[in-house]
Amino acid sequence: MTAIDERTITDVALEQMSATPNPRLREIMDCLVRHLHAFAREADLTPEEWLEGIKFLTAVGQACTPYRQEFILLSDTLGLSSLINTLHDRRSVEVGTKTSLLGPFYRQGAPQKKLGESIASPGDGAEICIYGRIVNLAGKPIPNASIEIWQSDDHGFYDLQKHDPSQMDLRGWFHADAEGRYSLRTVRPLGYLIPLDGPVGDMIRAQRRHGFRPAHIHFLVGAPGCRELVTALYLRNDDHINSDTVFGVTDSLITETKVNDPSSPFPSLPSIRFDFQLGAATAREESGRVGADPSQIVKTARVSH
Ligand code: BEZ
Ligand code: FE
Repeated sequence: MTAIDERTITDVALEQMSATPNPRLREIMDCLVRHLHAFAREADLTPEEWLEGIKFLTAVGQACTPYRQEFILLSDTLGLSSLINTLHDRRSVEVGTKTSLLGPFYRQGAPQKKLGESIASPGDGAEICIYGRIVNLAGKPIPNASIEIWQSDDHGFYDLQKHDPSQMDLRGWFHADAEGRYSLRTVRPLGYLIPLDGPVGDMIRAQRRHGFRPAHIHFLVGAPGCRELVTALYLRNDDHINSDTVFGVTDSLITETKVNDPSSPFPSLPSIRFDFQLGAATAREESGRVGADPSQIVKTARVSH
């Protein structure tokens, strides 16, 4: 019997878990326990602080509903989701357009739209056009690629925050044409505060952070044989472009609208041209979605608004 003390406890815990038959589970749990113990030692965590942490994580769990994923929001605001994205990119055979966060507002089943159609409803904001091509790393067009898009309105609100969650707005699902071209109309989104009415909001305020995301438009782009791309385009002139609360912005995803663009299918509208580049799928394709439709994670009680 080993005497349990500050030095021996980590090895004793690892030894007890060492018969885990699943090798990857064993590796992950080993690593987690070693780092958790190192964290507690380095921070010299007191029982009161440990309990505060337990209370905080309990509140995070209790804030989750079929329409809200507070744990993913926590991961986003700690930079963990962005880190997982970069690790995912490192494992790929080819990296095309950089990834960005899926975020908590993605929903499966966005309305199908024809090229050039608008995803907005009256009152959502000032109209813009987004167009371009879906290509592979050699620049070759990918015919019929699938493009899902979702965004906030010109006040910074997603449909989920405005209506009955079953109603979808400012979302759409398009297919590129035979030359990989896509075009759509939407509105210029406004940056917004991430949901701050839960425990993650308490953390953000305690850290004196502003809580904003710069204006952006989300995309999920895919095609057979290609690695699914989860990304977003960011608007350059936003005050928070350099201080995104969830660390999603990267230089190559910053765009701006151009007026009187003769190449735009809607030259009278401020237009963004962006070509999405998809890498080849890896043999064992893992999901690149850091995040998920919350209703696919929590399937229990429906929330009433
Ligand atoms: C979003 O862009 O939708 C988002 C991402 C992470 C946290 C909150 C919102
Ligand atoms: Fe967003």
